[in-house]
This record gives sequence, C-alpha cells and structure tokens, in this order.
Amino acid sequence: MPRLVVVSNRVAPITEGEPTAGGLAAGVLDALKQKGGIWFGWSGEITEGEASPVHLERTVGSITLYTLDLSRRDYDAFYRGFANGTLWPTLHYQVGHAQFDWAEFDGYRRVNVLFARALARLVRPDDMIWAHDYHLLCLAEALREAGLGNRMGLFLHTPFPAPAVFMTNPAHEALIRAMCGFDLLGFQTEDDRTAFADYVVRQAGGSASDDGVIGAFGRTVKTGVYPIGVHVDEVRHEAEAPAHQRYASRLHDSLSGRPLILSVDRLDYSKGLRPRFIAFERFLERYPHHHGAVVFMQIAPPSRGDIETYREIRRALEAEAGRINGRFAEVDWMPLRYLNRGFARSALMPLYAEAQVGLVTPLRDGMNLVAKEYVAAQNPDNPGVLVLSQFAGAARELDAALIVNPYDETGVAAALDRALAMPRGERIERHTAMLATMRRNSLDAWRDRFVADLS
Ligand code: ADP
Ligand code: F6P
Repeated sequence: MPRLVVVSNRVAPITEGEPTAGGLAAGVLDALKQKGGIWFGWSGEITEGEASPVHLERTVGSITLYTLDLSRRDYDAFYRGFANGTLWPTLHYQVGHAQFDWAEFDGYRRVNVLFARALARLVRPDDMIWAHDYHLLCLAEALREAGLGNRMGLFLHTPFPAPAVFMTNPAHEALIRAMCGFDLLGFQTEDDRTAFADYVVRQAGGSASDDGVIGAFGRTVKTGVYPIGVHVDEVRHEAEAPAHQRYASRLHDSLSGRPLILSVDRLDYSKGLRPRFIAFERFLERYPHHHGAVVFMQIAPPSRGDIETYREIRRALEAEAGRINGRFAEVDWMPLRYLNRGFARSALMPLYAEAQVGLVTPLRDGMNLVAKEYVAAQNPDNPGVLVLSQFAGAARELDAALIVNPYDETGVAAALDRALAMPRGERIERHTAMLATMRRNSLDAWRDRFVADLS
C-alpha cells in the first residue's frame, strides 16, 4: 500500500498542549493523525556549519517525523530571504513589502534540492509525496532531477495572485516552470486556481482545459481546488471540555458581562491587524453607546521576528494599542486587550466560544482557519457572529458571515455594531448555514480528495 509522505518547511510540535500557530501545521497534523505516514521538514534549528543530515525526530502513533537542521546561510537566503521576504508578500498581494535578490532565489532552490536529496533516501518507489506551501515550489523539479518518479503533489496554503502581481517577482517564470514538475497542484479557492491557469495560458504559452488539466513546459499537470477545513465536532468538543476552561473562565470573569470581540492571528502584516485596530477606533468614535460596554481582545503571537517588516508591524501595533486605550479607557474599562502570546489549541477553542463576535479581517489570506475554528467553537443555540474579510479564502464558503472589506475601516466599524446587535434568530440562521458548509468541506474531505486525485 502506498505510504503518504508529507513534506513541509515547518513540522508541527506533535506534543499535545504545545501551541501550533499557523494553519499549515494545524491542518497537516490533524490530517496525518487520521491516516498516518511520514512527515519530513525543517527541525526549526539552525547550525553554524553545514545543514545536518536528515534524522528521525520521533514517532507518535502512526506518524513518523523526520527533520533536518538548516545552515545559517540557507536559513538566511531561503527562509528569511526568498520564502518570507519575497514570496510571502507577493502571494498576499503586498508587493510593497517584497524585496528581491537573485542570490536568495539561488538559496531557495538550494534548500529545495537539499530537501529532495534527503527525501530520496526516505521514500519508496510507490510512496505518494505531498508537498505543502510556498517554501517548496521547486521540490518536484529537484526530486525528478534526483531520479524519483513518484506521484508528487503540492498544496498551496496561501493565495495565488493575479499574474500581473506574481510577475513582479523577477523569478516568476522559473517558479512556474518548477511548479509544473508536480503531478497535482492544489489551491484553496477557484480564484487562486484560475489565476495560476491564467499565467500558464497567457504568459507561458501553455494550455488549460475545463477539467483543470494544464499543459506547459512539456508537462501535463492536474490542478484542483481543495479548501482546507477543520474537524467541526472536535473543535466544539474542545471548546466545551471542562478541563480546558482555565483561561476561558478567567476571561469570562474579567468581562463582567460585557460582550467580547475576539481576533486571533499570527502577528503578520497580511492579517490586517493595523487597519483592524483603526476600525475598532472608528467603531468607538461612531457608536459611543458601546463605551464601557464591550471589550476587543487581539491575540497575536509574534511570528518571523527576525524579518524587519515583522518587527515594524509589531512596533506599529504596540503604538496603536497604547494610543487607542489612552484615548478611550475609563478608570474601570480598558477597550482593547493586546496579547503577544500563543495558546495551546485546547485552551484557544474555549476562548473562541466566549466571544460574541469573531473579527477576522486579513488583507489577503489563503483560507484562514481561525474563521472556521471560531464558527465551529460556537454554541449552536446561541452562536456568536463572524465578521469576515472578503479577501480571506474562507469567505468563498462562509458567505453567511458579515462580509467586510478590511480596507474600509468605517464599514468594519458598522459591521461590528451590527454584529453586536444581531438578534438570536439571525445568528442561528447564519451559523447553521456556515456549519453545514464546513461539515461538507471538512479537514478529512480536504485530505481525502487531494490524496485521491494524487493517486
Ligand atoms: P496562518 O496559517 O496564516 O497562520 P490560519 O488562520 O489559517 O493562518 O491558521 C492559524 C492557525 O494557528 C489556527 O489553527 C489557529 O488556531 C492557530 N493559532 C493562531 N494564533 C494562535 C495563538 N495565539 N495560539 C495558538 N494557536 C494559534
Ligand atoms: O500557514 C501559513 C504558514 O506560512 C505556514 O506555511 C507556516 O508554517 C506558518 O504559517 C507559520 O509561519 P512560519 O513557519 O514562518 O513560522
């Protein structure tokens, strides 16, 4: 029976109770738990010498985890440089934050080759290789150069932007050519898949047919849409579990009956945290009857803190949080709580359940699992309201949320006021619709459909 070999830059801490910030780690871990297989990636360690050989990290249940350490030079060029300084902002339409350096692109390809050579020692000829995300766009090309003929698929967790945006990256053609080395390319939404097919047809002189098969660079590749989901019942179960209520009950007591607006994100400029803070300020300006009567809590664990754009956004948010609280706080009320820390998943789900409003307003996001987790955590008899950016992949499925444009701060403020006043009947109706879609597009369905198409 073919084994599933999952490859991603980051592998999750698979010890229960450790925070797992990032949709990839959360999604892949859940998917592998059910099916078993090998998971290979970077250990998170940096060595001052050469990259380490691949080593067995541990085996937990049916998952065997292999990792390698990156050299400082590779980490700088691949992770800090091309993956997170160039590709991440470009894929999220934030071209103003993107830098470009050919030497970093070389480093990116070098690490893809390093991963491929390490994998070549682990895989058997009939294994299926499932690569994840923007760090590994060149992996299949490198695996084929290493002589492997396995089935290879890539799932892109981020958006794929309009061709004109992608082409701001001077290495665009080399990247698309390398992506065509996979047998299957999976995207979060039809918009992403279409943008990729548009590039292939208009820029690479390739072909795209209605069944999602594209031809380019001498290869035939299947493309498909596989929206990543969550285990709906598990999330609700964790949200309610008495053992996990420690933080939630402290939060509940501290609110003294005030409704809570909650946001949870990695501290990333693509998440739209700064415009969100401004929108909350606008809300306090325009709807003064909420003064003293509502609390907004932003949970944002620092992410990629050795990249300057991430340090900048962190400084900017600290300043905004201080300014907004300074402007509106009363002796007995602090409108905005800003927490720079992660929570174990089991502690996070009950926090979602405490919130009357889930505020999820990325400027762009491949999917946004927080939006889905928030909906799944709600009490179906008295659910909270999801306020969701039209630019999150999740908005394609969760259209019963209050959909907002995150660049329109006044519009977001109005949606918050509407959410807080929404009658129970309407809340239930919207929640029921979203839950039904999420059950159809569950995490199991995501994995099973991708694996079926790959095999
Ligand atoms: P991204 O993958 O860009 O970080 P997603 O919203 O898709 O965005 O996924 C984030 C995942 O990380 C979710 O599963 C969420 O539960 C988890 N997460 C986000 N913030 C925290 C936090 N403060 N503590 C623990 N987990 C977090
Ligand atoms: O889900 C998006 C993602 O970029 C993952 O690929 C990544 O593992 C996660 O967020 C966290 O980012 P990082 O691995 O850079 O800490």
